[in-house]
Amino acid sequence: MPTAATRLCGIVLHPAGHTRSPAMHNAAFAALEIDASYLAFDVPPEDLADAIAGVRALGLEQIAVSIPHKEAVMDLVDDVDEHARRIGAVNTVTRRDGRLVGSNTDWLGSNRALERETEIAGKRAVVLGAGGAARAVVFGLLERGAEVHVLNRTVERAERLAKELGASGAAEISALADLDHDILVNTTSVGLREDVSPVPAEMLRPGSVVMDAVYDPEVTRLLRDAANRGARPLGGKWMLVYQAAAQFETWTGREAPIEVLANAFDEAGR
Ligand code: ATR
Repeated sequence: MPTAATRLCGIVLHPAGHTRSPAMHNAAFAALEIDASYLAFDVPPEDLADAIAGVRALGLEQIAVSIPHKEAVMDLVDDVDEHARRIGAVNTVTRRDGRLVGSNTDWLGSNRALERETEIAGKRAVVLGAGGAARAVVFGLLERGAEVHVLNRTVERAERLAKELGASGAAEISALADLDHDILVNTTSVGLREDVSPVPAEMLRPGSVVMDAVYDPEVTRLLRDAANRGARPLGGKWMLVYQAAAQFETWTGREAPIEVLANAFDEAGR
């Protein structure tokens, strides 16, 4: 039971929809016997400033920031760390010495998920998509020393993203046919709750690591095709688990229990 000493964390998002973050973080708090509680707050854009003022006034320890607030929140916190500034988005606000510090753990989540299957440094990576999710993934890959190509239905968006972050190239998705690569990450919404893939199965390379940011369904068409082609599929669940782990570690300073987070993620989806 919460007491007067219980510390509070949470996530702000809109619409509330279904977020598995409370399940993951509360399970981690319980496993490490940390007296804290984690709630979801449905905050429409026009109320975000009040919500952050509330975080300040009520002394919440950490707030995860989800769609559609990741950019707007940057103007509402006291500091934004360098990585989040370069990505252009904050997904985590943590109280530190009375100040609210914005950071980004999405890129860490992507890297740590990939690192379950492969090293990143020196590898040739292709990222499908050029939205907010792509920015964090591309940033992470570059930060670890991969060579990155950005492919998107709308080429101009891919070109802009590649230029801003320093990726090697940008093109249409069909260019994948001619791009040798070790790592492929889908950040488009193609495959979300429907059995379609953003790329033809023949373009997937045997031996490559194929990660899908889409986690509903857990095994997407892209991941199934990857397995059939002899590539190594990696579900979007791991990106979410590891970005949550990085948030947990930012606030608590303790190593996150990955299996606990992963199990809680699974259970929350049932
Ligand atoms: P997020 O912030 O989650 O990345 P976003 O900014 O809306 O969301 O980006 C969605 C991405 O999915 C974009 O790369 C989009 O391609 P466009 O830039 O051409 O719009 C991609 N996407 C969405 N639906 C798609 C579809 N049917 N086919 C191909 N790409 C699609």
